[in-house]
Amino acid sequence: MKKIILDCDPGHDDMLAIILALASKEIEVLGITTVAGNQTGEKTYTNASRVLNLIGRTNIPVSRGFDKPILRELVTAPQIHGVSGLDGANLPEPLGLKTEKHAIDFIIDTLLQSKEKVYLVPTGPLTNIAVSILKEPKIKDKIEKIVLMGGAVHDSNFTPGAEFNIYVDPEAAKIVFESGLPIVMVGLDVTNRALLTFDDIDYLESINGKVSSVIAPLLRFFANANKEFFGLNGAPIHDALAVSYLIDESILSLKYLHVDIETLGEFTRGQTVTDIYGITKKQPNAYVALDLDLEKFKHLMIDAIKFFDTL
Ligand code: RIB
Ligand code: CA
Repeated sequence: MKKIILDCDPGHDDMLAIILALASKEIEVLGITTVAGNQTGEKTYTNASRVLNLIGRTNIPVSRGFDKPILRELVTAPQIHGVSGLDGANLPEPLGLKTEKHAIDFIIDTLLQSKEKVYLVPTGPLTNIAVSILKEPKIKDKIEKIVLMGGAVHDSNFTPGAEFNIYVDPEAAKIVFESGLPIVMVGLDVTNRALLTFDDIDYLESINGKVSSVIAPLLRFFANANKEFFGLNGAPIHDALAVSYLIDESILSLKYLHVDIETLGEFTRGQTVTDIYGITKKQPNAYVALDLDLEKFKHLMIDAIKFFDTL
């Protein structure tokens, strides 16, 4: 069983990442930390707690992290996730287990106290992860791997050159990608293909369970926004795809490549400049996802939602 800390900015696909992680027998979620990204720090923190109440896991610790990137002003994504960050359905009260710790202190304390190495699974801007490493470098010895949703080799979704999570806090991403820690980069090249289609959403709606009946309209909101802005035929479940790698590594095809993070570009802020052909001769620093087994992923994801219907 893999011990993980999920650092997220719920966000519809972060919500499904939480659901997939907590439904899996392969994963022990030591805690959830939240960061500003899709919405403000207050909203992403509250949303994580609401999701935990929805699925009956109010015993999972939730710690609130940074409300803004290290250097930049916060940029959010209401056009994709709505004003609440989880528009599309009414969620229950936020009842996740409040730790009263800042996210970086939860991450540091949990890693230092853990007997085993822990997987960090960031699915939002990398602010909490970067500052945790800076504040307490000793935690690097307790990190098994960083499996992150972010970046892309050939795709983008916030500017023509960048993916949202990396764009929001490029300095944090640079710190993480230059940390020397083992990184699996699950970017838009695969996550934009990890779609729950409108037919899948109709199916979830037809189940009409206590959780699926809430998830379906949330996903429909998210799918409609992605259809409008990117012409996608459904909801790209970016963050849950990163989690799925921890359950079944065969879901992703990876290549060990060098990735630089652009922090100075006028038009390219936050670009994950990926040396796909080894042209720079630089030492690779990330296992980059280039392909996915979509059927395996969708099977896991839909089963996880149905699992919580049965509880
Ligand atoms: O670009 C997609 C990523 O940005 C996802 O993690 C989504 O939740 C947003 O955080
Ligand atoms: Ca996210």
